[in-house]
Amino acid sequence: MEPARPAAVVVLAAGEGTRMRSSLPKVLHPLCGRTLVGHAVAAARALQPEHLVVVVGHGRDAVRAHLAEADPGVVTAVQDRQLGTGHAVACGLEALPPLTGTVVVTYGDVPLLSGTTLRALVEAHERDGNAVTVLTALLDDPTGYGRVLRAVDGTVAGIVEEKDATPEQRTVYEVNSGIYAFTAAALRDGLARLTTDNAQGELYLTDVLALARAAGGRVDALRTADTWQTEGVNDRVQLARVRRELNRRVVEAWMRAGVTVEDPGTTWVDVDVTVGRDAVLRPQVQLLAGTVVGEGAVVGPDTTLRGTRVGPGAQVVRSHCEGAVVGEGAAVGPFAYLRPGAVLGAGAKVGTYVEVKGSTIGAGSKVPHLSYVGDAQIGEGANIGAATVFVNYDGVAKHRTVVGDHVRVGSDTMLVAPLVVGDGAYTAAGSVVTQDVPPGAMAVARGRQRNVEGWVERRRAGSPAAEAARRAREQGAREPGGREPGGREPGGQEQVGTAGEEQA
Ligand code: UD1
Ligand code: CA
Repeated sequence: MEPARPAAVVVLAAGEGTRMRSSLPKVLHPLCGRTLVGHAVAAARALQPEHLVVVVGHGRDAVRAHLAEADPGVVTAVQDRQLGTGHAVACGLEALPPLTGTVVVTYGDVPLLSGTTLRALVEAHERDGNAVTVLTALLDDPTGYGRVLRAVDGTVAGIVEEKDATPEQRTVYEVNSGIYAFTAAALRDGLARLTTDNAQGELYLTDVLALARAAGGRVDALRTADTWQTEGVNDRVQLARVRRELNRRVVEAWMRAGVTVEDPGTTWVDVDVTVGRDAVLRPQVQLLAGTVVGEGAVVGPDTTLRGTRVGPGAQVVRSHCEGAVVGEGAAVGPFAYLRPGAVLGAGAKVGTYVEVKGSTIGAGSKVPHLSYVGDAQIGEGANIGAATVFVNYDGVAKHRTVVGDHVRVGSDTMLVAPLVVGDGAYTAAGSVVTQDVPPGAMAVARGRQRNVEGWVERRRAGSPAAEAARRAREQGAREPGGREPGGREPGGQEQVGTAGEEQA
């Protein structure tokens, strides 16, 4: 069946959300990669409505700014004072040209409602030629909800709010979700007739149903068995409940699509994340904000990826990555921190206690241990020795370092930017490199070692160190082939030392 294209969806989001006890408007609280209202807008978008209007009130500036960014096609309408759901819908319609066809109403705080359910609602509404079709659910505990009153023929006679209901009406377990499809005319006519003659002194949208029926229209319900789709968020306990359920659904969908999830209960995946087939998510993994994990990649345990691309077959272990790109077959962690602009080529490695920011690390290059790589461009096949620091900040401005292909940076090297280390160059361990290194050169920038012979036995006499030194001296005297005092290898060459270079 052709998906129906309604004239408009009106999303109600003007309420205060007092029970959140938050300085953030309720509908802007995040949930699995979108705000609450972002979920409502995404579900509405699935209907491809001609108009999508969100009614804002409390926190309107923040909500409007958020919507302008999240979905610039959304129109906002202001409801200055919250005079009731009927008044809110009227405010929404005022922001639109006169409508014909179907108008859908939803809430900004019901995040699990799916586009599929909305489509089913619109289809039932149009198929049966209804004036109003309301989405309902059967709840074990209907307390607080409007109750659905059925006519003898099984259609809907009306909705009564709990506060206005008789004891008998309160025994009804079928509740109003607050989500409806209306024909534009029935909605407009009903809204014009609403009164505040009720327990809360509000203009109830729910009264439109009985009014439409009295005017000769057919009013019916679509009952959903999935009560989560009608659940609103009023406080942070409900927010957590709904978050767990939405996450469960998202993680389950990825498992059905071929992803191994070792511990679904501790795996959190935002709705806008993509995970490739045969990827493995170990326990305690968060995949957030548009992260993409490639086929066969292994992520976790204990890893957070935010806006990060992980290539096929790559591994990220016990790490935190934001705005990073990890190339095919690359390895990250354990205990690495990739910040925005960290780009690792195929087969590259960023190891333990390494932080990378705004830097490209070429294919097959390795930064295995204890390093900071900031604002650098590293070529292919390079090895950055343990405890190297790319000194990118002079206290005023950030500067870049370029390291060529197959460079070997010695351990504990300070590369003071701006700096270029040419292809195939080496740096000596412990160097502070402040000048460009030509291709193939060895840069040495450190004090030459001086040994003061016999110092410990003279100045620390009686200490365990002095005793050990004495024994070594006496043994050396007995063994003619023993190590020369001073330990320098023949020829007095500089030893370079790039610890971490030989990685298994
Ligand atoms: C409403 C329904 C009730 C239904 C329940 C489902 C009415 C009269 N009652 O009750 O039948 O079972 O939802 O959750 O419609 N809002 C505005 N402006 C207003 C009033 C509300 O934007 O003036 C928005 C709120 O921000 C919220 C939604 O509409 O997102 C529902 O409002 P709320 O006050 O929670 O309605 P209920 O009394 O719970
Ligand atoms: Ca409510």
